[in-house]
Amino acid sequence: MLLLIKNGTVINPGDRTIKQADVLVEDGLIQKISPGLAIKADRTIDAAGCYVMPGFIDMHVHLRDPGLEHKETVETGVRAAVHGGFTTVVAMPNTKPVVDNADVVNYVHNKAKNIGLAHVLQVGAVTKGQRGETLSDIEGMVEAGIPAISEDGKSVMNAQLYREAMTLAVKYDIPVLAHCEDIHMVNGGVVNADEAMEQMHFKGISNAVEDVIVARDITLAKETGAALHLCHCSTKDSVKMLRLAKQEGIRVTAEACPHHFILTSSDIKGDDANYKMNPPLRTKEDVEALREGLKADIIDVIATDHAPHTAIEKGVGIRKAPFGIVGLETAAALTMTELVDKGWLTIMQMAEKMSYNPAKILGLGKGVVEEGKAADLVVFDAEKEYAIDPGQFCSRGKNTPFAGRKVKGMVMATIVGGKIAFERPREKK
Ligand code: DOR
Ligand code: ZN
Ligand code: ZN
Repeated sequence: MLLLIKNGTVINPGDRTIKQADVLVEDGLIQKISPGLAIKADRTIDAAGCYVMPGFIDMHVHLRDPGLEHKETVETGVRAAVHGGFTTVVAMPNTKPVVDNADVVNYVHNKAKNIGLAHVLQVGAVTKGQRGETLSDIEGMVEAGIPAISEDGKSVMNAQLYREAMTLAVKYDIPVLAHCEDIHMVNGGVVNADEAMEQMHFKGISNAVEDVIVARDITLAKETGAALHLCHCSTKDSVKMLRLAKQEGIRVTAEACPHHFILTSSDIKGDDANYKMNPPLRTKEDVEALREGLKADIIDVIATDHAPHTAIEKGVGIRKAPFGIVGLETAAALTMTELVDKGWLTIMQMAEKMSYNPAKILGLGKGVVEEGKAADLVVFDAEKEYAIDPGQFCSRGKNTPFAGRKVKGMVMATIVGGKIAFERPREKK
């Protein structure tokens, strides 16, 4: 199939250029990028007034499959992904069973391949059953194609075991994606530890719960030489430590999630578990530090930590509900509205943090819009305004604190491997 994307503004983080051009796609590849391509294609997408960007790559998604399909499946997850402009998602291993051997990796990869909408890369757990006791079959999972290891949902609390895992990650040349949380320090906390939350009589999770493990993990990366990637940074001191570690030449990268760089605990007005996630919404100072960190490229990646739960699970209040919110279908618009439109990031930085840098960290050879490269693309209308409506989500999870929020930026089409995986029906003018 010959696909022509016409009249868009092409953003290529590969050589940091922005230009008006048509993009011709065939056999899964970008064949030509040039203005005024007069070619009769099988399909044409009118991208006038839109950006044509490298398809977004979400380094942090919970697809819940196998075993937790009432929350999400590979199918609903990839539908949500392409609806949100993501062409690749990286799935965390805290499923049932845990992804700790090649069989489960193959199960997810095969399922995704059969659906064929977005690329799914399954991450392997660091320890068997995520119990933190013995290492999982990392070698077997590397052979099955995992892009990284992670214990996401928790930290491996035994530093010696984590050090051994990092040494293996060096051997197999894969990054370690670190959820930083000292479980012993959580102590029943459900939201951030601050005055506003105390007044609501919620138990708090202090910044130190994250910071002590960030410090530990950077130290272990320094010793082992492992490529460490810090998941969902939420505190100002984690940004500080990250900056220092990068200055020292330690192999460390990091992500921040839209909810953490937009909301604070003060946005929690009642007992609404759609505001409950781990790490929790912090303070204004933390949000400011994350934004500064993103702007200064100390924070490399914007990821969602897409964590679907059912309305029933989330309907029991902040004390009892599980941690987590969905993000695949709101991340691009929230980033455009809150960071690009407000001058924190350039559109090029958005493309870098949502595509080019994740690809680089994971060694995917993607995240660019260049001739000869895979045609994973998103057509994004940065001007389109609307209110977020979870009723429109493809994800099974509707759990978001952003329902009703006004945003700017709409995904018009998502192309994966040269095929149109999502296309928004055009409004009649
Ligand atoms: O909010 C979260 N939800 N944080 C995590 O670390 C895990 C995730 C989940 O799996 O629901
Ligand atoms: Zn996590
Ligand atoms: Zn997560």
